Amino acid sequence: MFEQIDQLASQARADLEAVEDADDLERFRVRYLGGKGAVKELTKSIKSVPADDRPAFGQRVNELRQKLQEAFDEKKARLAASAERKGPAIDLTEPGLPPRLGRVHVLRRTVDELLEVFARMGFDAADGPEVEDEHHNFVALNIPESHPARDPWDNFYLAEGGDAGGPFLLRTQTSTVQIRVMENAAPPIRVVSAGRVYRPDEHDATHSSMFHQLEGLYVDEGVSLADLKTTLLQFARAYFGPDAEVSLVPSYFPFTEPSAELYVNRPLPDGGREWLEVGGCGVVDPAVFEQVGYDPERYTGFAFGLGIDRLAMIKHGVDDIRLFYENDVRFLRQF
Ligand code: FA5
Repeated sequence: MFEQIDQLASQARADLEAVEDADDLERFRVRYLGGKGAVKELTKSIKSVPADDRPAFGQRVNELRQKLQEAFDEKKARLAASAERKGPAIDLTEPGLPPRLGRVHVLRRTVDELLEVFARMGFDAADGPEVEDEHHNFVALNIPESHPARDPWDNFYLAEGGDAGGPFLLRTQTSTVQIRVMENAAPPIRVVSAGRVYRPDEHDATHSSMFHQLEGLYVDEGVSLADLKTTLLQFARAYFGPDAEVSLVPSYFPFTEPSAELYVNRPLPDGGREWLEVGGCGVVDPAVFEQVGYDPERYTGFAFGLGIDRLAMIKHGVDDIRLFYENDVRFLRQF
């Protein structure tokens, strides 16, 4: 009789030990402590116990019920606590969602890189306004009244009221900054200036009505065309790689003499090479020095103006300038 109680007790303990989750625990409860469970069956079987043993039997069964109930309660509490510790189900092997970070626009980064390259060659950064007067955009740059560059169709003129009473306009070139720097400082001068310029050019793959230029100006005693070429070659190699070459093709600008277009040649991934026009340059015309009060007998200088958007296109293999301005994050995120 009593053996039966002991057997049930040890069986129940083993079963409870094996319980791993709430479902197991419920099955355990039904099996042992439920209305039709094993303990209830034992209670019922008291009828077949000899009368003398019944009180002891009944007491043992009661003790068993109590112990199982306590063990059950304890297990239930422990399961609940460990479920809480585990928190929600997380698959640690699943790739996470990378946070989307903003990034510096590719043109801004190009400007920073260019300023850095020229800083290493000793050029300071200078700035000038985007809304200019005719004096700085034309007159001081040796572009006379009758010059076609001043045609209203080639400029964004604004309201009247520039320094000399003439109209303001959006600057068409960063060469304006050459004048502003020289008006405010004496030689030696070695500056670069990056910024937006505006021209009513028709938009296509290589033209925008707002784009960016990097102006460079070096003025001192004895500065020559050879210095210009060396500087541009150093720049091209620093920016495009050690195999880059430069070529100066004769051209015309009112504020430089001689003047040239700068072509950069660089190797292509397929093994070929290509020549690309990236800006204008030349030896500063003495007439410009006279405008800013420098002695043209004593000082010489060189200047250059590079198309920043074009440089970025070449460097990153972008075939349409408009992509820089459409703000499509799928494009911008690549850089
Ligand atoms: C000039 O603007 C001269 N100020 C450059 C210069 C500076 C010459 C100092 C001598 C001394 P140009 O108009 O060629 O030159 O323009 C220079 C560069 O700007 C071009 O080579 C080209 O790369 C870029 N550019 C010109 N127009 C556009 C445009 N609409 N869209 C994008 N880039 C342009």
